[in-house]
Parts: sequence; structure tokens; C-alpha cells
Amino acid sequence: MNKFVTLMLSAAAFVAAVPVLADDDAAPGGAAPYKVANGNQVDAQTLSGWKTWRALACERCHGAAQEGMVGPSLVNSLKTLTRDQFKQTVLHGRIDKGMPNFDGSKMVVENIDNLYAYLKGRSDGAIQPGRLQEIGK
Ligand code: HEC
Repeated sequence: MNKFVTLMLSAAAFVAAVPVLADDDAAPGGAAPYKVANGNQVDAQTLSGWKTWRALACERCHGAAQEGMVGPSLVNSLKTLTRDQFKQTVLHGRIDKGMPNFDGSKMVVENIDNLYAYLKGRSDGAIQPGRLQEIGK
């Protein structure tokens, strides 16, 4: 193979690799559970997660920007908490430690994955604190 062809092939390989790298960057360890544009536009599911957060007033204890008050910073927590641990904690609570159980809330039960998606987006720094709207609306 001559030098020119080798160069062209490696250039092609580099271009092909770029989207994969960009993907990894946005979502370490797998696909992100949310879609976001401009920091404050999200997919319908993630928007429902944010609405659930607002409706149940989680910010009373975790802060309006999820950075913690009497409850811990969820921006930090969701860097290590698994989806299952998240669901367990929110649905069953840790009553003795001051985290209420939310399995009596239909909205939380139905939106638990959406709530996780929203908070994961906050934890990743991809979604801004505050008001959100749906992508394309
Ligand atoms: C009355 C105050 C209060 C409210 C309201 C509250 N939390 Fe909590 N939450 C806590 C406390 C305190 C902890 C820490 C428990 C512990 O020490 O293990 C906690 C822990 C958590 C954790 C686990 C964090 C970790 O690092 O393990 C998650 C996730 C969580 N809360 C989510 C929520 C969500 C979502 C809502 C709203 C649906 C909510 N919380 C509402 C007080 C609250």
C-alpha cells in the first residue's frame, strides 16, 4: 500500500471515530437517560421528571438547584447512586434519616424513571437548574 492510501485510510478512521468519542463524552458509561438542548430544553419524559420534582417539592430539603440543604446534594449523589438505589431511596425513603417515602404518590411512582433522568442530567451538568421546556416547543 502506498503512503497516500495509508494516509487516506487513517483519516477516514479518525473521522469515523469522532462521533463515538463525542458520545462517550456526553454519557460516561452508556447512553444518557435524557435529551437536552441549550441546557434548558429537554425531551418530554425528562420534562415530566422536572415537573414531578417541582410538584413534590423535593427542593424543600435538597435545594432548588439540587445542591443540598437538610438533604444531601443530589448533583453529587447521582454521580455514584445507581438507578436502582435511586428508585429504592425515593420510593421507600430512609425514614430514620429524614428522607420520606414517596411510594404513596402516584405521580412519583409513574415518573420515577423520568425523575431519575432529570436528576442525572443535573448531576452531569448537562441540564441547567431552574425552569425547563420541551425540545422544539
Ligand atoms: C423532608 C426532607 C426531604 C424531602 C422532602 C426529600 N428528601 Fe430526599 N433525602 C432527605 C435526606 C435527609 C436524605 C439523606 C438520607 C440519608 O442520610 O441517607 C435524602 C436522601 C435522598 C436521596 C439519596 C441520596 C444519597 O446520596 O444516597 C435521594 C436520591 C433523594 N433523597 C431524592 C429525593 C427526591 C427525588 C425527593 C422528592 C420526590 C426528595 N428526596 C425529597 C430529605 C428529603
